[in-house]
Amino acid sequence: MKNPLIIAIDGPAASGKGTLSRKLATHFDLPHLDTGLIYRAVGQALLQVDLPLDNEELAAEVAQNIDFSKLDRKALSVHEIGEAASKVAIMPKVREILLQAQRDFAAKGAVLDGRDIGTVVCPNADIKLFVTASPQIRAKRRFDEMIERGRTQDDVTYEAVLADLKVRDDRDMNRKDAPLKPAQDAHLIDTSKMDIETAFQTVLDLVKHTGL
Ligand code: DC
Repeated sequence: MKNPLIIAIDGPAASGKGTLSRKLATHFDLPHLDTGLIYRAVGQALLQVDLPLDNEELAAEVAQNIDFSKLDRKALSVHEIGEAASKVAIMPKVREILLQAQRDFAAKGAVLDGRDIGTVVCPNADIKLFVTASPQIRAKRRFDEMIERGRTQDDVTYEAVLADLKVRDDRDMNRKDAPLKPAQDAHLIDTSKMDIETAFQTVLDLVKHTGL
């Protein structure tokens, strides 16, 4: 196998890209970076001290100080932090600051997942995947996750999760800078009717056929 192997995985929220990325990283023994976490860390830092989410200078300052080795996935997975992340992610200065660190992470071979990995962060990745699923299925997955984590049906509804997800998709896909879209050479994987094991096997077949 050629070295270093870079696998770029993009897709909207709750498409299954995170689980798939972790499985691929384990399989190929590569480090994995969930790039959503770094935008989430910026959002969290602003929320924690009650700072506005629409001030680019402030958000850029916070982004400068994000430590990639200290990203706490559990703490950052809160729904509100995802919303905040999507808001700071539209800011070109924030994206620019985080770009080089993501490239440095990828340089020795890695699996990265996010929104702009195949298009901007690692345009020369060996394998590019665009993982998606219908908004309804993604919202159902998110909703079930929230209930599992202790939220109750009194404070969260499937309809509200679906509405939020559509707003977030719209913001992520229609921002000017590095919008969410498949790279021209990305393989599309629709997980609407596919479990994660099938998606994983589909990618392994793809890698085999690519001859890497
Ligand atoms: O994948 P996620 O839900 O953790 O991502 C949170 C937000 O971060 C997402 O709505 C948009 C932003 N993001 C981005 O703009 N670019 C990336 N490569 C990853 C995430």
